[in-house]
Amino acid sequence: MTERIVRGRILTFRDDPRLAGARAWRLVNNGAVAIRGGRIAAVGEAGEILANAPKDAVIDDHSGKLVLPGLIDAHIHYPQTRVIGSYGAQLLDWLNKYTFVEEQKFADPAHSASVARFFLDELFRQGTTTACVYCTVHPASVDAFFAEAERRGARMIAGKTMMDRNAPPGLMDTAQSGYDETQALIARWRGRGRLDYAITPRFAVTSSEAQLEASGALAAEHRDAYVQTHLDENFAEIAFVKRQFPWAKTYLDVYARYGLLGPRSIFGHCIHLAESEVAALASSGSVAAFCPTSNLFLGSGLFDKKRLDDAGARVALATDVGGGTSYSMLTTAAEGYKVLQMGGQSWPATQAFYQMTLGNARALSLQDRVGALESGREADLVVLDAHATPAMAHRMESHEGDLEEELFVLMTMGDDRAVRQTYVAGRAAKGA
Ligand code: GUN
Ligand code: ZN
Repeated sequence: MTERIVRGRILTFRDDPRLAGARAWRLVNNGAVAIRGGRIAAVGEAGEILANAPKDAVIDDHSGKLVLPGLIDAHIHYPQTRVIGSYGAQLLDWLNKYTFVEEQKFADPAHSASVARFFLDELFRQGTTTACVYCTVHPASVDAFFAEAERRGARMIAGKTMMDRNAPPGLMDTAQSGYDETQALIARWRGRGRLDYAITPRFAVTSSEAQLEASGALAAEHRDAYVQTHLDENFAEIAFVKRQFPWAKTYLDVYARYGLLGPRSIFGHCIHLAESEVAALASSGSVAAFCPTSNLFLGSGLFDKKRLDDAGARVALATDVGGGTSYSMLTTAAEGYKVLQMGGQSWPATQAFYQMTLGNARALSLQDRVGALESGREADLVVLDAHATPAMAHRMESHEGDLEEELFVLMTMGDDRAVRQTYVAGRAAKGA
């Protein structure tokens, strides 16, 4: 089996720098990663790795550039590639005016397949190698996405959105058909290669109690499958949920009632949380996905990371394309930094890069597989260049050799131009 050696400045996290300080990461300036059979075989000093490499090893020399684990996006909608950047509406109007119109096109399997190809090309171009993905209500949209992810050998989590009210007829299932279709998709795709399934009741606005109950039954039957939905994103949404579920004390109460909280549950947005919701997220081990570009673009509000951190709740970072305006996790981190600044919190670049890699891997319970450059892990890597544009190179001139400055430049000024290469299961995937 041919071995590939990726040379560069190897940076990987072992812990959260917020808790462990500088012990949290390891940097090998003249380093290399040896890859065999889609997995990391060894990581260390380039001299040592090269000395032990077979003669026919392929060597990709990215000396001077940073090599990190592939970036992870904890919440994104693949059917919204033509919704991104839609003008002038907040959440509920934006869904009705743009999103629900576009999502109806995924009844056509050929359309689903072509968008899935574009979407994965784009993620890899941006250095993202794993994502937790919403498809549409159509099972064919899920088949198209998983088939394309499987073809490319990528680690992906995805699910069919379930919606049985407050949506156009072309986008609705029923409690029963949503349950049956999800069961069939789980049977077809879950655990196949690097794929996993997320049970996906879109949000409490578009699901009846019967559908949420069916979602809870699916989660109980498939304990290791994921659950993904939206929570406390927008005031009109929250008021709508209150009207639909008058018995619920809070929005999260609705999901809790149907057994949808837990360590594999990812709640998008989590902006306007009551104190009891913060406590329930923390005690259940649920994950709050911070979607800064989306929260700003849709005028939804400012995420309070410190409040969740202080409560011991798990947090992830996500683009939420197409409410989000960028596929780039670097740009997403930059906007996250600004949102946190607005709340009097700042976000060191080491913490942001931890979050985009090991932090999001932990949030998705994938830390034994991806998110770190350690032998035995799957070989998903990104190569980043902090000198990618004239303005970045100029900014770097006074800070050469300072890792924290370099990471901060990458995050505040970087995007796809800073991504030199992306490796998915050991294969070069940017522009492949
Ligand atoms: N809430 C329910 N569906 C969606 C969606 O597609 N995007 C966002 N941002 N919020 C939602
Ligand atoms: Zn979303």
